Formats: sequence, structure tokens, C-alpha cells
Amino acid sequence: MDVIVKPDYRTLSETAARLVARWSLVEPGSVVMLPTGNTPKGMYAELAQLAAAGLIDFSSVTVFSLDEYLDLPEDDERTFRRYMMRHLWNKISPGPAAWHIPSSRPADVQAECQAFDRKVAESGGADLAVLGIGENGHIAFNEPGTPWDRTTHVAELAPQSRRGEAERFGGVEHVPKQAITVGVKTIMRARRVLLLASGEAKAEVLYRALKGPITTDVPASVLQLHPQLTVLVERAAGAHIG
Ligand code: PGA
Repeated sequence: MDVIVKPDYRTLSETAARLVARWSLVEPGSVVMLPTGNTPKGMYAELAQLAAAGLIDFSSVTVFSLDEYLDLPEDDERTFRRYMMRHLWNKISPGPAAWHIPSSRPADVQAECQAFDRKVAESGGADLAVLGIGENGHIAFNEPGTPWDRTTHVAELAPQSRRGEAERFGGVEHVPKQAITVGVKTIMRARRVLLLASGEAKAEVLYRALKGPITTDVPASVLQLHPQLTVLVERAAGAHIG
């Protein structure tokens, strides 16, 4: 495991963008899994700038989003589909060769999960998975207690995860209860993993994930077993991992 500590959010974001560029945008035809959330917003802004300057190019890259809420209209601004449009795809041209994200209103949820797994398999699997970490240790929407052997599945969101989104949804009662998420098995099959964490609120869970026991109570702890893990943290988030 490589740990890179950056002094602030700006340098974290710049470094994240450069690593994504180096690991998935230089080789034509690569496959990358990308996260949503607050942490990667700066990375996307940086990637958009690099693309606008002609320094990087997504046009041969296949992109998979890690997860999507269920029970929201697909064009709802709070979906991860819209998030990716706002933060990346609307800002770059040409776009990626392909971008796969589960529907937030699939006709058949199980079929949607299976179709997503099939697309991952057909792509040859991810060269790089970029992840955030939830305050409860979740990666994508693999909440505490999720078995390691899951591929794409429907997740019941943990109360803590829903509370964290309450403001964005105008009250916790409006936060979706379920999401479609790639599983830990899918993530662990990525040839390389980049885990991002920023802010003091992540310091304790990051310590538990990287230095504590490997347990489904802290889903991110499974990453200790990944052979090519890079952890990129802002100093405040890395306070306990030394
Ligand atoms: P955040 O979310 O980047 O908004 O903190 C991370 C996550 O829940 O995976």
C-alpha cells in the first residue's frame, strides 16, 4: 500500500487528477471506475481543466460509475448520473468511449445489476477504481456488514449514510433508502485502486480501515488485501495513519 499525504484539498485534487491521467488516460482503451461525493469534486475540476487544455483525452476510455440511488427520476439533479454530467462530462469534449451508470429507475432492478456486471466483464474489468470512503467505512455503497463476495447489487443505505445526505435532499426522510452499487468483489478485481479521503471527519475511519482488523464492519478495510492500493489523503484525514 502506498500512502500519499497532501497538505490541502487543492493539492489532493491535483494529485488525484494526475494519477488518474497517468493510470487510465495514457494507455488507449483503459477501463476506469469513478466515484461521486464531495471528495472527488476537485479532482473532476482538475481533470476537466487538463482535458480543456488538450493534455488528456477520455475518448478511448470506458468509464463505470460505482453506484446510483434508486427511486429518483434519472434527470433528478441529485442522481449520480447528473452529478457526473455537472462535474465532468458537460465540461469535456470528446467524452469517454463509453460511460455506464445504473439507472435510478430501472424496470427490473435485478436485471439492471446483472447487466452492469456483464458490461464490466465485457470490458475486461477495471484497470483503475477510484474510491471515496464514507464516515462509516463504506466504499461505493457497500455498507458495514456487506459480504465481500458481492458483485453489483441493491444496497440498503445505512442510517449514517442517509443522514450525511439529508441536507442535499432537504431532510433525511427524502434521502433514497436504496442504491445500486458495485460490490466489494468487483472493486477488488480492479487492477489498481486509488482511495481518496479529505477532511478531519474521515481521520478515524481511515485509521480503522487501513490499520485495524480486516472486517466487514469497516468495508474499506478489505482494501488492505489489494495488491495495488494507493491511498491519497489530505493531511487532516491522514492524522492517525502516520
Ligand atoms: P464524500 O463521500 O466524498 O462526500 O465524503 C465519500 C463516500 O461516501 O464514499
